[in-house]
Amino acid sequence: MEKARLLSKELAGSPRESAVSQDPIPVFDVRLEEADVDAVAQTLRSGWLTMGPRIEAFEAEFARHLGVQHAVATSSATAALHLAYLAAGVGPGDEVIVPGITFVATAAAARYCGARPVLAEVLGQHDLSIDPHDVEARIGPRTKAVCAVHYAGYAAPVAALTEICKKHGLALIEDAAHSPSATVPGEERRLGTLGLAGAFSFFSNKIISCGEGGLLATADDEVAAFARSRRSHAMTTGTWDRHRGHALGYDVVDTGFNYRMDEPRAALLSARLPRLESDIAERRRLTHRYRAMLRKVPGVSLPYSDEQVDASSCYVMAATVDPERRDPLRRLLSERFGIQTTVLYPSIAEFSAYSGDDQGPLPRCERVARSQITLPLYPHLGDERLERVVHAVRAGLEELDRGSGSR
Ligand SMILES: Cc1ncc(COP(=O)(O)O)c(C=O)c1O
Repeated sequence: MEKARLLSKELAGSPRESAVSQDPIPVFDVRLEEADVDAVAQTLRSGWLTMGPRIEAFEAEFARHLGVQHAVATSSATAALHLAYLAAGVGPGDEVIVPGITFVATAAAARYCGARPVLAEVLGQHDLSIDPHDVEARIGPRTKAVCAVHYAGYAAPVAALTEICKKHGLALIEDAAHSPSATVPGEERRLGTLGLAGAFSFFSNKIISCGEGGLLATADDEVAAFARSRRSHAMTTGTWDRHRGHALGYDVVDTGFNYRMDEPRAALLSARLPRLESDIAERRRLTHRYRAMLRKVPGVSLPYSDEQVDASSCYVMAATVDPERRDPLRRLLSERFGIQTTVLYPSIAEFSAYSGDDQGPLPRCERVARSQITLPLYPHLGDERLERVVHAVRAGLEELDRGSGSR
């Protein structure tokens, strides 16, 4: 008890900046409504829990939302990426070019296929998307696909990547984990529908979440049929078909996976989907406000333009600071101001599991990984907490400038 009191005193700093008197601000926060809980409860009461009518309904709704022919619900975006790579023909000995700054799943899914993920540079501090020129330079005889990650919901340079993929006969896969409803600036077509297949995530910190879940979107009938079959052990009929008497048995036509979503998750997603656009509109408003305020804070740089914000799903509020001050600033924000931040993402090349796989230098990825800081953002963050975050960033950087913030 005494120890806890001492610790909060030590972390509190000056009374004006005390974290003790202020609520902590998490980097993300999920808020569900009663209707969401009811939808899940009704599903549990229905007695049908595995893939069935609610999955079918959610797939139809999400396909309509994206304006794409097929939506195949999966257990995660990682599963959807694996299925997308397989559908693109990626196999043992092949290579898939992915950005060096992304969640590890983008690269790991290539390894699931027996392929080698080839890490490419990002454009730089101003845009954390994969660099098309570097992609082209890394294409070799074994390259089968390129994966464009729409980092934080901001469109990767899809036009240039499509051109390159066409020229070299490669499949373009989109990792759209962060980008439901986002578009290329000035275009109507939604991210995740622009390549052979797009993978969406409904993991709990995502823009529309259900705990664990994903979805593969595609306009290609064969890719959709492949994904539907392989997500459920490549069985020719499903439990729901047999339950309804539509089938008596099944054949297994390949080695598939259990990548199924279940009914309670689909019910939760269907209940939340109608609020997706208004949630994103509020994320955009908050992002513009953050940017207007942070532009005035010396030492903070902001990737992307305001025009790009308007087309983005604004999954996170990304900023960059001098690499030397990034971690001390994060510590100050957490300990003194009660503000949680994250890094989106470390450079994949620096993970133990990937560092042995010589990829050549990736200086832009390394710099981004050392300078990026992700600030709290969620639709119910509100202006007051946002202002608290910006003031804390300013105060933290000033303190570090004075040299009193280092421990
Ligand atoms: C860019 C990116 N790709 C893929 C994934 C994997 O998503 P899931 O957790 O649904 O497998 C994530 C999740 O954080 C992600 O951020």
